[in-house]
Amino acid sequence: MPKHIAIVPAAGSGARFGAEVPKQYLQIDGKPLIYYALSALCACPAISCVWVVLSPEDAHWTSFDWGCLGDKLRVAYVGGETRADSVLGGLTAAATEAAGDDWVLVHDAARPCLPAALLQRLIDELAGDAVGGILALPVADTLKRADAEGRIRATEPRDGLWQAQTPQMFRFALLREALTQASGVTDEAGAVEAMGLRPRLVRGDSTNLKVTFPADLALAGKILAEVTK
Ligand code: CTP
Ligand code: MG
Repeated sequence: MPKHIAIVPAAGSGARFGAEVPKQYLQIDGKPLIYYALSALCACPAISCVWVVLSPEDAHWTSFDWGCLGDKLRVAYVGGETRADSVLGGLTAAATEAAGDDWVLVHDAARPCLPAALLQRLIDELAGDAVGGILALPVADTLKRADAEGRIRATEPRDGLWQAQTPQMFRFALLREALTQASGVTDEAGAVEAMGLRPRLVRGDSTNLKVTFPADLALAGKILAEVTK
């Protein structure tokens, strides 16, 4: 049976958030944001180990005690310029304990509200899939294309459009090859698509939001408080 390995890229600087520290180290209820993503993955019985990919210059990770997450956690200071570089670094670090057909679940450090049932649904729905896939949500709002003056140039059809979330789940060898070859991709699926493959869309949940701007952190805090009530 193939194993399931998680990789959590956490080497970004959080430029759009604009805080003094990278957003993954901002706190919700006394714990750094990244704790919640790691905790969701470590708690999943199907996942055997969780690699967190940090920047080689990371100065915050060791300020926290991660012992409560158990013995699935692995740390690699191999983050790169782009998210794809960081994930590729994580795959290289994990290679010693991974087989080519093991599954890899890549999940954003900044996505703290992943429900256990949703994670399990992704794993179950992709179990027999030849390519792999991602959590995603059908686009709900009407889409507008802007011109250079910030006025609407066109209304774009939203039929068939989905917003990509994470985890994104692919076979270890396929993902490594895809990310080695790809350039300019912003998620793992993009790299796999560039190989001519068609990853599956598994319906996600709007609570599985990514913290990008300050308002997202407040919303994530409310969602987490609701879950743990
Ligand atoms: N990430 C990474 N290495 C990079 C860039 C991003 O590991 N070179 C990680 C981030 O730490 C985050 C995830 O990829 O967990 C999603 O990226 P994003 O939300 O864009 O985070 P940042 O790049 O930190 O934010 P920003 O784009 O606003 O700077
Ligand atoms: Mg970024």
